[in-house]
Parts: sequence; C-alpha cells; structure tokens
Amino acid sequence: MAPCRTTPISPADAGGLVVSVSPPASAVGTAMLQRGGNAVDAAVAVAFALQVTWPSAGNIGGGGFMMVAPPRGKPVCIEYRETAPSAATPTMFKLGERRFGHKLVGVPGTVRGLARAHEQFGKLQWGEVVLPSVRLAEDGFALNAALVRSLNSALRNGADFPEFARVYGKPGGGTWRAGDRLVQPDLGRTLRSLVDQGADAFYRGAIADQIVAEMKSSQAGLISKADLANYRAKLRTPIHGTYRGHDLYTPPPPSSGGVALVQMLNLLETFDLRRRERWSAETMHLLIETMRRAFLDRARHLGDADFVELPKHLTTKEYARKLAASIDPHRATRSATLAKDIPLVDEPGETTHFSVIDREGMAVANTYTLEGGFGSKVVVRGAGFLLNNEMGDFNWQPGHTDTRGNIGTPANLIAPGKRMLSSMTPTLVLRDGQVVLVTGSPGGRTIINTVLQVVLNLIEFGMTGPEAVAAPRLHHQWLPDRVTFEAVEQPEFANRLQRLRAMGHTLNTSETTQGDAHTIWRDPKTKRYVGIVDQRMQ
Ligand code: DON
Repeated sequence: MAPCRTTPISPADAGGLVVSVSPPASAVGTAMLQRGGNAVDAAVAVAFALQVTWPSAGNIGGGGFMMVAPPRGKPVCIEYRETAPSAATPTMFKLGERRFGHKLVGVPGTVRGLARAHEQFGKLQWGEVVLPSVRLAEDGFALNAALVRSLNSALRNGADFPEFARVYGKPGGGTWRAGDRLVQPDLGRTLRSLVDQGADAFYRGAIADQIVAEMKSSQAGLISKADLANYRAKLRTPIHGTYRGHDLYTPPPPSSGGVALVQMLNLLETFDLRRRERWSAETMHLLIETMRRAFLDRARHLGDADFVELPKHLTTKEYARKLAASIDPHRATRSATLAKDIPLVDEPGETTHFSVIDREGMAVANTYTLEGGFGSKVVVRGAGFLLNNEMGDFNWQPGHTDTRGNIGTPANLIAPGKRMLSSMTPTLVLRDGQVVLVTGSPGGRTIINTVLQVVLNLIEFGMTGPEAVAAPRLHHQWLPDRVTFEAVEQPEFANRLQRLRAMGHTLNTSETTQGDAHTIWRDPKTKRYVGIVDQRMQ
C-alpha cells in the first residue's frame, strides 16, 4: 500500500496557507495571499490552476462544493454541483452501460461557482486571480512523477478520444517523463476569455458554443445552450453539527457528505470512544456499525433537496441515540437485515480537495470533481478542457435494486435540471468561533468516512494534525457488506482484525489507499496553523 505519510508545510506566516495535491497550483494560491488577496481569492486561483496542473480532477468542466468561513459571521456553502441537461430522462441509462463519453456529461458548475465565490468574498480583481492559470497553460509547467503516472495511464486507455490524446499526449509521441513540460495553448485561450469576459464566456459566449458543438458531434450529447445559460451556482446554508465542544460546517444536499458526517459523529458521541484504544477491535467495530447505518440512510433518503423532500431527523442527537441502541457491541449487523431492498453501486475515479487559510483566519475548504479520473474523457474540441461524467452519480434505473449493487430508490433518480447526489465533504471545524480544522478528500463514498476519521483522530483521540491525516483509514458503506482498511496487511493489526472477523465482519484482504486529505490544522500548543499535505497520491 502507498505509505500513510504526510508532509507538514510550515506553519502559516503572516500571509496564510494553501494545501493542495499540486505544488504549482498551491504556489498560485500562495502568490494571491502574498498580493493581499484573501482565502477566497486564493481558492478561486487554485481551482483554476488545478484545471491546468491536475487535469484528472482539477476542472472547469465539472462541479463541487466550496465551504467558506468568513472572518466574521457564519460559514456558508457555495454549491456548484452539475445538473442533468433538460433533455435528460429517468430511464436514459441502462445498467451496465459505459460510464464515460458525451452522454454522461452534466451541465458544468465550476466556473459559475468560482465566479459566485469571488463576487461575494473576493478582494482582488477577477482577472488577477484567473491570469496565473492562463500563464501556466500557455507557458507550460514541469510534470512531477504523480502527474506523469496519471497522464500516461489515461493515454493508454484513451484510444476512443482523439482530442484527449491531442491535448494531453506528448508532442511527437511516446510516454511522458518527470520534468517534461505540458503546454496547453487551447486551454490558455479558454482561460483568457474568462479573464476578459468573466463566467458568461463559458455559459453564454464562445466557450458555450464550443461545448454545444462538442455535444452535437456525438448523437449522445444532450447539453444545449439553454442548459448552460440557465445554470446557477447556489449559496446554501451548511449542515451544522457539534462534537465535544466543536462546531462542524459541511455541505448540505445535493451532497450527502454533511448529513452523513454529522449523523455519524452524533452517533459516535453517544459512545465514550476515548475510553477504548484507537485501533482496538471494539473501536473499529463501532465505527463500522456507525458507517453501515449512515450509508443506509444515505441510500434511502438523500438526493437534490430542490427536487425531493428530505427528512429532518437524520442529523438530530435524538435519532443518533436511537440508532446507537440498534448496535450490538459484540456482533456485526448484517447489512442485508437492515434493509433488504436497496444495494449500491461502486464508484471509480478521481476528485480533488484543497484547503486555504488567510491572515485574517478566513478559511476555505473546496472539493470539486469530474467524477471519474479525467471525467467523461471528452475534451471540448479546440477549448482544451475535459467535461465531467457526473450523470453516473444518479441512480440509473428507477425501481431496480439488486444485490449486485444497483440502486433505484426515488430520491436520486434523474430529472431535467436536477443535481446528482454527491459525497463530497469539504469541512470546517471551529472552536469558540475560531477555525481549528479545514479538511476534505476525494474518494467517492469513502470521502465521508475519511473526513469522519480525520475529525475523530483529532478531537476524540488527541492526535496531532499530521498524525490524524497519516493514520490508516477504514471504510464501510452499508453495501457491499465489507470493510476496507488501509493497513489490512500490516502484522501489527493482525490480532485485532482477527477479532473483527470473529465478530462477523468481512474484511477486504487487499490493501487500497483511501482518500487524499489536504488539511489545515491549528496546533493548540503553538496556536499556529499547520498545512498538511497528504502523501497518498504522490
Ligand atoms: O460527487 C461525488 O461524490 C463523486 N462524483 C466523487 C467521485 C470521487 O471522489 C472519485 N474520487 N476519487
């Protein structure tokens, strides 16, 4: 397994901190802070830069969630999730259909979301925050080993998509090597038009025309000019939870992340977890049982709240006590006995999270995605950027639920203009009004459990930020009824895992890494912020 390592970056100097998967993108954000920009200026600049320097997930053709803690006032969520095109129907996909290509593309939200964030909170000029990405695209930048692996692997599988190969292939052929420069002139032009004309270039102007032409080049493409023109990013009230004297703020639906995270923390708060050892079979058992129950509720109830009524009780302490009472401390509950009818599908792919704090203590947690690694693999011809395959996050076949993992419950069925259910969970934790943690992660449904464990490691088990991020993670999502654990093959865990099996849990035997949680933590000893680069993707 990839080592569970972190690189702490220096505590915030007067200017603030930016932590992302990509060093050149983080440098762009840091430069914004040094010019006097605030955390949102830096975050918007990083989000554009990641489109250039981390194309598997960094995007203008996708969507996401940005949590902002302003220096004064309550945190807010800028929600820029993709929507289903107006021509979409609940039965447009068949189970087993491929999960990339034009048909999978949702109406992108990123550019409107970033513009909304900047308009509401930014201090620098719009052009100032977008321009560094134009330069990165036009002048190119040196590839590191992680990006070389990612590009070479996508190019090996990208035979169906000539524009993808043209834009991301090595000029003259062959495979990329660390230190090679990636230059993206089409993307440079696209970003320059955003500098000059703002988000309208993307939703109403020349870029919109290019997206619609790309859609029309395939019979399967659905997005129209009206879909783009009608797209709105939304300012939403975050899900708020409390845990042992801390306040958590995290995205509401159409992400399931906030509801599930707060539900799980409420449930775990009813057990005095710190009485037990962090890695004891008992602690892991309680975590798994908690995850099992929250993920069942996610499948049962959650979808775009603008389209479906969502129950209010899921995040209450009272409901948590009721759920806690259903956990047998010695035995695994069989998922199938909790609800026989609603299994789930697995999610592949890639997403990326970054965290920012500025000198005033304003913080941003942003997670955004193309869904799969490199999304739909469709690069908009001549525009140099990828479109998402986010339609895959809807439930595909109404009423069809089966044990192979397909789900057809109503809350997350496709409807025109509806947002597909997400698991993205960018999270801010405050104590006495001050930000003490900024975190989030990629990883599909594992995202919620990654964030849960970072929060618990810190608040419940007293770890430092770097320890909390490096610690091995486990995941259970109700169905399939099995546990993945990053350290499953490490001898020091053998006895405890044996006990878990004896309690009735099924463990995946192969090691996989879980998430990539670029985090900022306030060290209570030094009272300074520390950036923590998760090394799992490096
Ligand atoms: O919105 C979601 O939850 C998914 N589309 C995210 C996919 C993902 O995180 C894959 N990443 N590793």
